[in-house]
Amino acid sequence: LAGTLAARGGRLAIAVDSLLGLQRLAQAADEAALSAQQLDVFIELDVGHGRCGVASGDQVVLLAQEVSRHSPLRFAGLQAYHGSAQHLRSVAERHRAGEAALDKIRGVCALLAAANLPAPLVTGAGSGSFAKEAASGVYGELQTGSFMFMDADYARNALDVAQPMFEHALFVKTQVMSVSAERAVCDAGHKSHAIDSGLPSVHGAALSYANGGDEHGILRALAPQGKLPELGEVLWLIPGHCDPTVNLHDVMVGVRGGLQHGIVEQLIAVDARGALT
Ligand SMILES: Cc1ncc(COP(=O)(O)O)c(C=O)c1O
Repeated sequence: LAGTLAARGGRLAIAVDSLLGLQRLAQAADEAALSAQQLDVFIELDVGHGRCGVASGDQVVLLAQEVSRHSPLRFAGLQAYHGSAQHLRSVAERHRAGEAALDKIRGVCALLAAANLPAPLVTGAGSGSFAKEAASGVYGELQTGSFMFMDADYARNALDVAQPMFEHALFVKTQVMSVSAERAVCDAGHKSHAIDSGLPSVHGAALSYANGGDEHGILRALAPQGKLPELGEVLWLIPGHCDPTVNLHDVMVGVRGGLQHGIVEQLIAVDARGALT
């Protein structure tokens, strides 16, 4: 893949966080006969997310030194993504998490510079915090993804005036298939939207959505005497989590001009559908 990308003017970059992983990567690069510095390697630093990543600067330096011993590999810098900070609800909490991450990265960059291995790039950030990373002078690349769609989970974050605001742009279209005295049922359950970050909200309607299983959603009026939708009515759900929702569909329907009066402009195939890693 690194070779194919290079032939098309691109570069493959991989993040590592262990000596064993790095050595296996170096071995694979040798077997693929990559040319010198053809594969970019980022060292992943845990900046508070608690997923992948080494804990300390000393470990980063050791790994960066190891990268420099393998000719096909190029030390590209630090992968420093703080995923959980994106979804902290208050602006103050997000800022505190971002500050702590920045302090840690600055320290690690100083250690790398002292070891004569300055980090060419620090990459990270997501849609909940990117203004801070962008203004920091530390991050050289932002990995924001959700901003292009937004989702019901991001809508639960308090607004940060320092950040641009993004509207919802991803909806699951659904139709009401059953109505009774106190509820309506729509034909979109969790086969059609990801629920790992919570259930969807109903766009532009005073309705709550409750789990109705794989193929159904249970809708109730938010107000005590509120109106339920009618049988056959079309509704638009804002998924709880946009990224894995996209992965559930083969095609997205690109509409320009809004949900009510817009026109379909393009069918967009989800090329990476089912690509699980
Ligand atoms: C490593 C990494 N970077 C960036 C992102 C994008 O973050 P967001 O979708 O919150 O903008 C993700 C999201 O899953 C991620 O896992």
